[in-house]
Amino acid sequence: SQRVGVALVGCGTVGGSTAALLLDQEEKIHQRSGVHLELRYIVDKNFDVARSLELPETLFTEDLDTALSDPEVQIVIELVGGTGFALELSRRVLKAGKHLVTANKALLAHHGAELFPLAEQNGCSIGFEASCGGGIPLVRTLYDGLMANTIDAIYGIVNGTCNYILTEMIEKGQSYDDALAQAQADGLAEADPTLDVAGIDSAHKICIMASLAFGATVDLDRIPVAGINRLQAEDVAYGNEMGYVIKLIASAVQTNRGCFVRVEPAFISMDHPLAWVGGSFNAVSIYGHAVGHTMYYGRGAGGSPTASAVAGDCIAIAGGAYPIQFKQINIWQGKTKPATQLDP
Ligand code: HSE
Repeated sequence: SQRVGVALVGCGTVGGSTAALLLDQEEKIHQRSGVHLELRYIVDKNFDVARSLELPETLFTEDLDTALSDPEVQIVIELVGGTGFALELSRRVLKAGKHLVTANKALLAHHGAELFPLAEQNGCSIGFEASCGGGIPLVRTLYDGLMANTIDAIYGIVNGTCNYILTEMIEKGQSYDDALAQAQADGLAEADPTLDVAGIDSAHKICIMASLAFGATVDLDRIPVAGINRLQAEDVAYGNEMGYVIKLIASAVQTNRGCFVRVEPAFISMDHPLAWVGGSFNAVSIYGHAVGHTMYYGRGAGGSPTASAVAGDCIAIAGGAYPIQFKQINIWQGKTKPATQLDP
């Protein structure tokens, strides 16, 4: 089978794990899927992570232009993060007619309305499974497995850092600051952990999922967002006394009055499955009109789980399994659904 060249840009926690996974599993991926992915470049300015993982130095380069202009490179993985350079890079990749795979939820929540049509115009795909729920295949579930459904609601825990902090506070009485420091040390948190604890990362993810589910761009700026950074130890203790745990819940509900999307800490009854989600795990419930209630659970952050989703996208794109490349879904085509605050 034909080799599909891959360039990976951004070799931090997720980038390093992705390179390691692609190299380590190259042969097995080929055997299982028939797809021969060939990692040709690891582009970054700092190779500390790459060296610590003993990735082959011959792949390291600071020269982005060479990687992008290599005709063998058909897929570019963007793991830079943020919406500055990552946006420029994504535009460049798509305009060059190469497929883009990204874990960057901020990029898509802010600029999906530009990038998806650009991909379509240039006949290429954007793989973004890793942008929501890390290793849990939520994106694919929404656009593929549940496609025949009208999605009524999506809700759950989509930030590993916040869930880790809350779990430590609830179960071990650890301080907020210590728990956050541990989440950062474990490679869960964003470069700027404010995005995690203020609920913004969760907002990016629910925006992407709601856009997929409801078939229209959900406007990030209109979503009410509250994080866990103003919670007090007393709030946690009070919930405990009453039989509840506090979880940061992202939700998107479609009603005949519009769609309601929000992020907020909520008291969850201890007998609800979401209350049992500990550590950095994520869990998401999706209600489809035909299927009813479904639920997805797994590691939503960290290098290896996120790499699993990134690599899965590369395989799907290289194998032609994304023939409709999300153009189909009519999301991000300029239609915007206002996300309104639910009446109290
Ligand atoms: N910082 C994110 C989290 C990483 O903690 O869930 C995955 O998006």
